Amino acid sequence: MSEPRHLLDVDDLSSAELVAVLDLADEYKRAQETGESHEDLDGQTLGMLFQKPSTRTRVSFETGMTQLGGHAIFLGADDIQLGRGEPLKDTARTLSRYVDCVMARVFRHENVEVLAEYADVPIVNGLTDDAHPCQTLADLQTIREHFDGLEDVSATWIGDGNNVAQSFLLGCALTGVDCTVVTPAEHTIDERILERARDLGGEPTLTTDPQQGVAGANVVYTDVWVSMGQEDERDTRLRRFEGFQVNEELLEAADDAVVMHCLPAHRGEEITDAVIESERSIVFDQAENRLHAQKALLATLVDSA
Ligand code: CP
Ligand code: NVA
Repeated sequence: MSEPRHLLDVDDLSSAELVAVLDLADEYKRAQETGESHEDLDGQTLGMLFQKPSTRTRVSFETGMTQLGGHAIFLGADDIQLGRGEPLKDTARTLSRYVDCVMARVFRHENVEVLAEYADVPIVNGLTDDAHPCQTLADLQTIREHFDGLEDVSATWIGDGNNVAQSFLLGCALTGVDCTVVTPAEHTIDERILERARDLGGEPTLTTDPQQGVAGANVVYTDVWVSMGQEDERDTRLRRFEGFQVNEELLEAADDAVVMHCLPAHRGEEITDAVIESERSIVFDQAENRLHAQKALLATLVDSA
């Protein structure tokens, strides 16, 4: 049996592979719109392991598997023996005997690495504290369709430099999107991720100044200030992120930039209701593209397993 391909972060794909996934995602989107059958994973099963809540990831993966002719099983961490202390490495080996791929949403990034080390099937990171590569696939598909390409696009990330931001930065580096990151000093991107982005040819600009950061951007992208598992830090975080809200005043510095958010959004914190509901917002295209991009990813990884 050949070694499975995993997606623990988006740079597990080469630039060419990433573009191929985006191309297939566009094909699946068209096939769905025209009603053309595309059951490329006929009879295959995806296990979906969740230690954190989810709306988009859970529903888009499960629906995607159905549309590809396969099946998905929801495995809440507390509903399986993992919640009673069964080691992750045993869970990985057991699930590998049943399913063709495992998508996992866990807290510590090391946990998807353990799954990948012990599983005989592809492991897909459905979000860890450090990375959210499936979100990045949908983000890039969305930007590409909106701007008819990626090469000349300039994107500004504003807010917390954690999971969604870090994968997005790597995705930009892989596809030639110019990326600026605006965060409070305490919440900047991890130095190791910056190094990986630079190794891929990215030249990210880092700043703590929101006005300066969004000036000239085609895309302004944000995420919550209090991620899942950080609820105890809420008060400190809200203080530190003051001034980083994506609102109409800030967007005056960004000309006609579109606005992205991975969702769920906390309206009134990192973004205003008016901006999410405005013409600039492409957040629901992003949400939809989770479905198409992940189908393309699954077809790519499961086929090559
Ligand atoms: N963006 C995202 O991953 O959403 P969910 O938490 O709803 O899956
Ligand atoms: N940064 C957020 C993303 C949710 C999709 C979190 O980790 O909660």
